[in-house]
Amino acid sequence: MKALYSLLLVPLFAGFTGLAANPATAAATDSVRDVHSYAEPDKVTTRHIHLDLDVDFAAHQLRGSATLSLQRLATAYDQLVLDTRALTISKVEAGRAGVLQPTTFSLDAADPILGSALRITLPKDADTVKISYASSPEASGLQWLTPAQTAGKKYPFMFSQAQAIHARSFIPLQDTPQVRVTYSAVIRTPKDLRAVMSADNDASVAATVSGATSEYKFKMPQAIPSYLIAIAAGDLAFKPMSARTGVWAEPVTLDAAVKEFADTEQMVVAAEKLYGPYAWGRYDLLILPPSFPFGGMENPRLTFATPTVIAGDKSLVSLIAHELAHSWSGNLVTNATWRDAWLNEGFTTYVENRIMEELYGRDRAVMEQALGRADLLEDFAKVDEKDRVLTPDLTGRDPDENFSRIPYEKGASLLFYLEDKYGRDKFDAFIKGYFNTFKFKTLTTEQFLAYAEKELLNKNQRGIKLAKLKEWLYQPGLPSDATQPESPAFAKVDEQLQAFVTGKKKAAALPTKQWTTHEWLRFLDGLPEKPTLAQMQDLDAAFKLTQNGNSEIAHAWLRAAIRADYKVAFPRLEQYLIQIGRRKLVIPLYKLLAQTPANKAWAIEVFKKAEPGYHPMTIGSAKKELGLN
Ligand code: BES
Ligand code: ZN
Repeated sequence: MKALYSLLLVPLFAGFTGLAANPATAAATDSVRDVHSYAEPDKVTTRHIHLDLDVDFAAHQLRGSATLSLQRLATAYDQLVLDTRALTISKVEAGRAGVLQPTTFSLDAADPILGSALRITLPKDADTVKISYASSPEASGLQWLTPAQTAGKKYPFMFSQAQAIHARSFIPLQDTPQVRVTYSAVIRTPKDLRAVMSADNDASVAATVSGATSEYKFKMPQAIPSYLIAIAAGDLAFKPMSARTGVWAEPVTLDAAVKEFADTEQMVVAAEKLYGPYAWGRYDLLILPPSFPFGGMENPRLTFATPTVIAGDKSLVSLIAHELAHSWSGNLVTNATWRDAWLNEGFTTYVENRIMEELYGRDRAVMEQALGRADLLEDFAKVDEKDRVLTPDLTGRDPDENFSRIPYEKGASLLFYLEDKYGRDKFDAFIKGYFNTFKFKTLTTEQFLAYAEKELLNKNQRGIKLAKLKEWLYQPGLPSDATQPESPAFAKVDEQLQAFVTGKKKAAALPTKQWTTHEWLRFLDGLPEKPTLAQMQDLDAAFKLTQNGNSEIAHAWLRAAIRADYKVAFPRLEQYLIQIGRRKLVIPLYKLLAQTPANKAWAIEVFKKAEPGYHPMTIGSAKKELGLN
């Protein structure tokens, strides 16, 4: 299986003379097999999807149709294979130029990771298929919230999260990043609820209301991979932050979000200065309820973000820099398969840091690099050696289950290393050229390697050798000459930490007045594996850490509290686990709690209370940690 997989990474067109003969079909010529999709994009590819959907809050279903406009790449082809997961398909029609006839179809048995292939008989000259369907109330890519689970408590809320392979749970499609589509949509919601999408959301256009239903129309004229199709509906209001940036949020959250993210326009300007024009028109944020399973999701034109980064002091806005950075790395230049995820996340982590440096200065940027490096070392220790590479073999594995900071931080470390070797002038020009060369395309790690060899290594003397680049990509861990982020501010924190843990200084004597969130995180993450209760009490008395409202500081403190079995913080821990559904913040806490039988039993009780408010992904990960499945 393994040998076959590496063979398949050789660009398929090498063996497909029929394809190579037709340069007009460029979309798929450099595709490689995506082991997470049943689609056959080298035979037929989707160019446009039109959605016509009702958002049914009572049934927890999206219901309606998806019409796919196709381009055939191979002749003699009579079957279209789409990805689906738990969809109910009621009818499939196919045809040409708007004249559609019912056609036969079958659904394969469901694979637990990939879902079911939908096989549609495609008449000879058909260029359109229309699938009438409904999503399952348990769709892995949707979350349906009761009013109680929202900030405003009055209306229900629904949102999608398609990356990596969940678009198929709410749209039947070719669910692989190798297929880019434009899309349009007609979405009907209950009258008081507004729908938004990763498309043109015009706040000044009111819904078309008929009876108890509001209807919204969307157009996404730029071609995007399926994992970037996104929809949300709820009690949403909009406020602009600049001519092209703004915030969508529940009314009670809106003002705080606008204040927190006021620097967004400056971030867009900084990124454009480095890497060229922002390609997507508007850049808006959608602030979700706290159960959103991620920090952020780079849905084009409309980043989805957790409210847990609204700290009141802009200390966690690197999340916005990150999702914005994906407008270049990921959304414009896209990883060909999830094995190549570092091309999305590593580049984005690097670009994010450049934006942060531009807005807030070098000290903060380097602190964030150092925190990222610590995360990387922590995650290296958690996985098998074969997964400490930038190109893990994910065959037969669920990309969600194998989520780690490695593609982010090892990928970014490679780019910091190259920047250091070649200097910013040359390296910035290289990255800008890379984005420009591959815009609206997907690429593999091997295509990146070839491009870097030609455009960076060969064009510069005194650089590095190809073998070094390969070491970064394919060898486990960090090369011994990786650049170390050196933060003078953190060196000072480390001194204070030493003084505290060795008992030379009491908490009250620590010079923390000027500490930023980052310095606090450095300090708390550096506490011993098992702090003493006296140390925890001393810190809590001096700094009220159990009461701290910053979601990251609270997370770091609660981790230490679990390790120390500092029970005073457990009511706060319970409240935190129930209030927040962001995987990164809650899963490590469950993992630590699961280490002792008593804490594990307690955690299971808390989980039961929290579960109704969690996203399916968070539920899955938490159950795994608690041994509940
Ligand atoms: N694209 C990711 C989120 C994602 C990754 C969803 C993999 C599904 C599978 C997004 O850009 C991201 O990386 N979010 C981070 C925040 C960031 C600041 C590191 C997150 O959610 O924690
Ligand atoms: Zn990302």
